[in-house]
Amino acid sequence: MAPNGDLEMMPTKALAFLMRSMKPQTKSADTFYRNLEEALDQRRATYNLRCVVPSEWQTMHDKVDFSSNDILSWNSGSILKDEFLAELARNPDFHPGAGGSRLLDGFYPYLEATEREVAAFHGAEAGLIVNSGSEANFAVWKAIPRPGDVIAYDALVHISTHEGMSLSLAMEKVEFSHNNPKSFREALLSILDSQPLIKQGRSCVLVAVESVYSMDGDVCPLQELIDVADEVFQGRDNIKFVIDEAHGTGVLGPKGSGLVCELGLENQIAVRVHTFGKALGTAGACILGSKTVKSAILNFARSTAFTTAPSFPFVAAIKAGYNLLQSEEGQQSMDCVQHMAQIFYKTLTTHPLWRKAREEGILWVPPADDWEIHPFFTHIVPIWTRQRYIYWLYFHLLSAGFCTWPIEHPVVPPGQGRIRMTLHAGNTKVQIESLVYAMFEWVEEIFAIEEGANGAKVSRAATEVYEWMRSEGLEGWGLV
Ligand SMILES: Cc1ncc(COP(=O)(O)O)c(C=O)c1O
Repeated sequence: MAPNGDLEMMPTKALAFLMRSMKPQTKSADTFYRNLEEALDQRRATYNLRCVVPSEWQTMHDKVDFSSNDILSWNSGSILKDEFLAELARNPDFHPGAGGSRLLDGFYPYLEATEREVAAFHGAEAGLIVNSGSEANFAVWKAIPRPGDVIAYDALVHISTHEGMSLSLAMEKVEFSHNNPKSFREALLSILDSQPLIKQGRSCVLVAVESVYSMDGDVCPLQELIDVADEVFQGRDNIKFVIDEAHGTGVLGPKGSGLVCELGLENQIAVRVHTFGKALGTAGACILGSKTVKSAILNFARSTAFTTAPSFPFVAAIKAGYNLLQSEEGQQSMDCVQHMAQIFYKTLTTHPLWRKAREEGILWVPPADDWEIHPFFTHIVPIWTRQRYIYWLYFHLLSAGFCTWPIEHPVVPPGQGRIRMTLHAGNTKVQIESLVYAMFEWVEEIFAIEEGANGAKVSRAATEVYEWMRSEGLEGWGLV
């Protein structure tokens, strides 16, 4: 909502910038630039061009952040900064840079101590801090599968896992349906059937899953998958799990230690990736596993060996995050996310229009169906509507002051576009209730349009955006 209580004029400045960037560019005469522009135009033609613009909630103070990964609100608040500065003060002799790659001169005592501490916190033998979660996944999948191994992966694993798997030496990669133990079982049986090295126990199956899936917010049925693996492999030791805990870190498990710790499966998972750019509010990742796993990554993933080791300030920010996870304030932040999720699901499901909106496919939030029996919530809330309305809903929420993101193919499979909303510890009850009311205000508008009640064919916020787009000669964003 604008400060005067009016809805924002649409499109907002950042949105207008994004939309304009989809317009084909004037081609340079220079072959080098022309070829690049032509390749980018192919992206523009499918409205898939990526471009960067500061998010509305960062630049406009009346916009509410329901989109960033700052789940515990440690980055936007002062708590992480204070702890980071305290960590620097506790180590006044620090050097800003690492001084080299970790295999040469870059493995300094503070990095070693932090890796040990992070590993111990999660109940792992060894840890390896790297510069990002994506780098961690590239390294794991490049280094760990040996020739003859097979990877079985959940259909919705993150793009960085796919990139990593494409670098791997694995003989075969087999997809199983998302969070589906039956499909997982079929995948394992087919691997056993077709791969004698696996059947003979001479090569391994590596299973790629995530604790919380980044576009759906649902949790991996890890114990069930392990049970299936045990049953199919009948006690053989050549099937191992690799789990990406990017969205579980700081959200699930005791003190935010993740899903594996929540389930007490520390000894059954071969490799874990914890990332720090989300709940911890900083950046980087730690690969957890045995000393053998760590050594294999250092030896076989060139991206970790031939790169400067993480610098002191970078590692100190991670250490500050771990200090907070173990503090009372840290626990309060984690509890707050759970509380905010409860408010959201309660407000949503008790709204008088919820049932009708859900039945008619105008508004559907999968985790809301059985929210009352969830032992815990995740911060990621997928909001579904009919595919042609996704942008309309996004425009409406933005015009009402709420920043979410419309997510479409290729980030999610074709036909599975949705709004992705993220809850934060720093959101307030009023913000969450207002967001839900804005959602239903839009639902009412859609009901009226579908019933032909007011003569309108397109929702108000979308109409404003589309009028502007036509005047600019733009296409896409649901404009037909
Ligand atoms: C599941 C998952 N893994 C890995 C990553 C990459 O992490 P980072 O941003 O630290 O590279 C992300 C980030 O979006 C993610 O959602």
